[in-house]
Amino acid sequence: MLQKATFTLADGATLDDLVKRDTNEVMLRVMSDEELYKLEMERIFAKTWLLLAHDTEIPKAGDFVVRDMGEDQVIVTRDRNDEIHVSLNVCPHRGMKVCTAEAGNAHAHRCIYHGWAFRPDGSFIGAPVEKEQMHGNRLGKDQLGLKKARVQVYGGLIFATWDIEGPSFDEYLGDMKYYLDQLFCRTDSGLEMLGPPQRFVLPCNWKIPGEQSGSDGFHTLTLHRSLMEGGVMGGTAESIYDNAPGMYGVDVSCEQGHSLRCLEAAQTFKMFSDISFEGKSVEERLAMLPPPGITKELIPQLFKNLSADQVEQLATIPPQVGGLFPNILVAFIFAPRTDGGSSGALALHTYVPRGPDKVEFINFIFAEKDAPEQVKRDMLQNSIQQTGTSGIIEQDDADTWPQIMRNARGVVSKDITLKYQALHGHERPEGWKGGGLLYPGFTKDDTQWNWWMAYYNLMAEA
Ligand code: FES
Ligand SMILES: [Fe+2]
Repeated sequence: MLQKATFTLADGATLDDLVKRDTNEVMLRVMSDEELYKLEMERIFAKTWLLLAHDTEIPKAGDFVVRDMGEDQVIVTRDRNDEIHVSLNVCPHRGMKVCTAEAGNAHAHRCIYHGWAFRPDGSFIGAPVEKEQMHGNRLGKDQLGLKKARVQVYGGLIFATWDIEGPSFDEYLGDMKYYLDQLFCRTDSGLEMLGPPQRFVLPCNWKIPGEQSGSDGFHTLTLHRSLMEGGVMGGTAESIYDNAPGMYGVDVSCEQGHSLRCLEAAQTFKMFSDISFEGKSVEERLAMLPPPGITKELIPQLFKNLSADQVEQLATIPPQVGGLFPNILVAFIFAPRTDGGSSGALALHTYVPRGPDKVEFINFIFAEKDAPEQVKRDMLQNSIQQTGTSGIIEQDDADTWPQIMRNARGVVSKDITLKYQALHGHERPEGWKGGGLLYPGFTKDDTQWNWWMAYYNLMAEA
């Protein structure tokens, strides 16, 4: 079963030395190794599908935002035909950034260096002093456009990849689509981004938050204990270990490295109410505890946009937190508050590499487009309070990641291994409708190990 080609770093370390598949360990040095980082940019960030933006950020023709695919900067645009394009923000003339703004509206992007201009779809319009052929005569105009990535819009989320002939977006999502539809494709008008994304840079390697997003539920009990202690979520500090309602459920994962923790709605509901879910219909359950961001008025839209099985799951054991390989965290948080409210938070993070020892943390905050303004405001507040740059959850995480990073540089400590040995094994709960690798019970290390296996497989491919 252990096969696959690998690489050798300058000091003789191979991929199998770094990611130990026989003992479920990973060397801490993977978080600081510069050589490895360069390989990751080639084999992961230039290959796989990456999340860049949401289509509500660029609603009109000519709208654009500038984002990153690994360390390559791109312009995400909407053209007059309503099509979305992702083009490398590098002028094919002499390598200047074509677009120096972060966002805006432009029907042409003109390079400030020598004036070459490009359409929103990346095609070359012309150069100044056209009659003098300032773009030369070696290449035709159709060969002078910006380099283009392959684009896919899913639930309004704009993904792109440089691997033009590679796996389709559906192949990339695999069995997770069934669950992700329940989060991103559940209402008629879908999600809307609430303002531009929040961004900040942290001194750590992208894989530290990346692997945690592979559904590390375990750390929430300890690192995020303050959520209970501070009354941000229902329950108390004393009840965390006894009931650990957020720890029991079904973790879903797949060989592409994505994962989601599906947690019993009844348990979540119990955190702030004594009323039982017992004997209640799907409709009644949804009305008692609507998924975060869904108002009572929006519930009929769930039935319209999702299959009966998907709605039933949303009402009984909804997916809530997890991640998409390589660098996305999904946080669709039911947040029953001590005041009885429960509007929750909808956020996605991407962890964009900025060198081996830095990551740009990007926080996209959402609400359903059809939700009332008051609900959107509430969602924004909740998300900022919990998952944003000043969010309680992220302050905990942002304290830990740089300390792991610091240790990854130590001559002795770099050889310590990260251990993923609390494995449960794939097991199908009775009556479960969705696909994927399923890990019922108390959250273990299986989903994170699948994240590392997805990493391994891509890194092993030259
Ligand atoms: S580098 Fe862009 S026009 Fe010369
Ligand atoms: Fe966390």
